Amino acid sequence: MLRKADYSAPIFVAAALFMFFVGGLLTTVVPPIVDKSWARPFDNSDPAKGVTGKLQPYTEQQLKGRNVYVREGCWYCHTQQTRTLLADTKRSGWRGVDAPVSTPDEFVYDSPHLFGTKRTGPDLSRVGGKYDEQWHRAHFRNPRDLVPGSIMPPYPWIADNEEEFQAVVAYLQTLGRAKNWRPDNDYER
Ligand code: HEC
Repeated sequence: MLRKADYSAPIFVAAALFMFFVGGLLTTVVPPIVDKSWARPFDNSDPAKGVTGKLQPYTEQQLKGRNVYVREGCWYCHTQQTRTLLADTKRSGWRGVDAPVSTPDEFVYDSPHLFGTKRTGPDLSRVGGKYDEQWHRAHFRNPRDLVPGSIMPPYPWIADNEEEFQAVVAYLQTLGRAKNWRPDNDYER
């Protein structure tokens, strides 16, 4: 069989496609069947410590903000996944605490997901609670006022539209919050 594949193009192509198909099944379809925790909302609640960390479904306002995020193409430049690399956990870390790595149970209410692929700007999967409302307003109006040399475009129409602005900030503040990991300075709004 192996020798035949060496000499016959159709058998070689069929074998290659078969192996590709098996690889696809093993990496995409099988894992969620084997590990059911993927489909359960993340929960780090600890009643003893008074910690409630369960991932909640989006509220109407947060969903609205998420739609603005999609409409404005924020995901062209921003990913939403903290990988297992130091470059990610340190970059999104806070006061010496490394950001936790993203896990599938954090995204069960995301449809479609906004993982993104291109990091023109920093990853946003842990940005919830990092800045307050005032910072976001100034940043949307003109990012360069806060971050000299920033190449993020200004979004004055978000900063000046109170309803949309509140919705986007409400959405941004949810990102990574379920893991309840950021010590201090955890802005709600
Ligand atoms: C053209 C690429 C681009 C687009 C589109 C873009 N950004 Fe950015 N963003 C950046 C860059 C670059 C930075 C880093 C410099 C800065 O903070 O301004 C950034 C920074 C940020 C930060 C601060 C992150 C941190 O950890 O400090 C937030 C929050 C943010 N962007 C939200 C948004 C939102 C919401 C949208 C859509 C309305 C958006 N961005 C669209 C490029 C982009």
